Amino acid sequence: MKNIMVTGGAGFIGSNFIRYVFSQKDFKGKIINFDKLTYAGNLENLTDICEKYYDKRYFFIKGDICDRKAVEKTLEKYEIDTIVHFAAESHVDRSILGPEEFIKTNIEGTFILLQSSFNFWKNSKNTRFHHVSTDEVYGSLGPKGYFKETTPYDPRSPYSSSKAASDHLVRAYSHTYGLPVTVSNCSNNYGPYQFPEKLIPLIILNALEGKNLPIYGDGKNVRDWLYVEDHCSAIWTILKKGKLGETYNIGGECEKQNIEIVKKICSLLEEIKPSSKNPFLKSKKYSDLITFVKDRPGHDKRYAIDCSKIKKELGWKQAYDFDKAIRETIKWYISNESWVKSVKDGSYRNWLNKNYSYR
Ligand code: NAD
Ligand code: DAU
Repeated sequence: MKNIMVTGGAGFIGSNFIRYVFSQKDFKGKIINFDKLTYAGNLENLTDICEKYYDKRYFFIKGDICDRKAVEKTLEKYEIDTIVHFAAESHVDRSILGPEEFIKTNIEGTFILLQSSFNFWKNSKNTRFHHVSTDEVYGSLGPKGYFKETTPYDPRSPYSSSKAASDHLVRAYSHTYGLPVTVSNCSNNYGPYQFPEKLIPLIILNALEGKNLPIYGDGKNVRDWLYVEDHCSAIWTILKKGKLGETYNIGGECEKQNIEIVKKICSLLEEIKPSSKNPFLKSKKYSDLITFVKDRPGHDKRYAIDCSKIKKELGWKQAYDFDKAIRETIKWYISNESWVKSVKDGSYRNWLNKNYSYR
């Protein structure tokens, strides 16, 4: 892996992945971050990486994966040998309100990347297309059982359907044309730099400001939580040791009901930043802010990943324990005030203009 194109590298997991790869002693190559900078793309997530590596080992291209010419030009100019494909519309609620962008980016964009890399790599060796996907393609579980790599697909939201379609396309390019691909399907991530539309950062930031903590339905839906750095290490392991054409499930083996997560955040906040000293709380406790709201349409009940394949075959395992990592995550959102402020006031979207030298 000399020249890695990371699509969606300005997003939550992509930016954590770029930081993770640069911290690996055995990586000596370059990373080209190809990102459209939608509302979810935030170059402030990578300020430290820019300062250290920009124009030497880290490059940024503002581009859309649906733009075939921009994709082809990037593959050629940077002699890309590895693609790690994160770019997607990622939020289920948004897909319910407006599915069109999901179909465009997640399906059409993935197709353009596949076709362009196939054309570009025709006579090359040692190339790889890694597709980052989700456990949501498998549908919803009852109280028992786990998603395995062999579980039939049963996507139920516009988001998960678009990801399922992209997974099928990736496998079709492997099976039909011999494109060197690997696929991973991962459970819910949490950690630094997550956009506060997702449950965990939304609850932390709302609580700190004394706003309601919205819980959909009865709060008993279950997700399997994985610290983002563990997702990054799993992808890195697949890139190094994964078998071509294979799919690997990645999960935290950490099932929690949403209500448990929200209560846990409230109790940790009482410890780290007591409500009695928080002027926004006005003699309330954080847990007093919990508010049950109308359920998400088609809300999947339970996700749980069986990740024994990547553990047994590739020797990966999670390094982070939930109690410790959620505490660190809360502290990160408290101590990174300027990141939070620019996300809230929207000024993160001007990062490129403010930091002209990185254009
Ligand atoms: P995110 O929404 O934080 O980031 C997505 C990034 O993709 C943004 O930087 C955005 O600007 C970019 N992007 C969107 N459309 C683009 C386009 N047309 N061209 C180029 N760039 C574009 O998402 P995330 O949470 O970091 O998720 C990354 C990937 O991981 C997604 O493919 C998602 O399906 C998958 N995934 C996420 C989770 C999770 O818990 N967040 C779990 C499993 C899998
Ligand atoms: O499972 C992997 C998926 O996890 C990824 O593929 C998606 O990209 C990612 O967004 C995430 O999807 P979820 O829908 O599970 O994440 P979200 O944070 O939106 O919601 C987590 C759970 O919390 C879910 O059951 C819905 C619930 N929820 C969410 C929000 C935003 C609430 O109860 N209240 C909320 O305000």
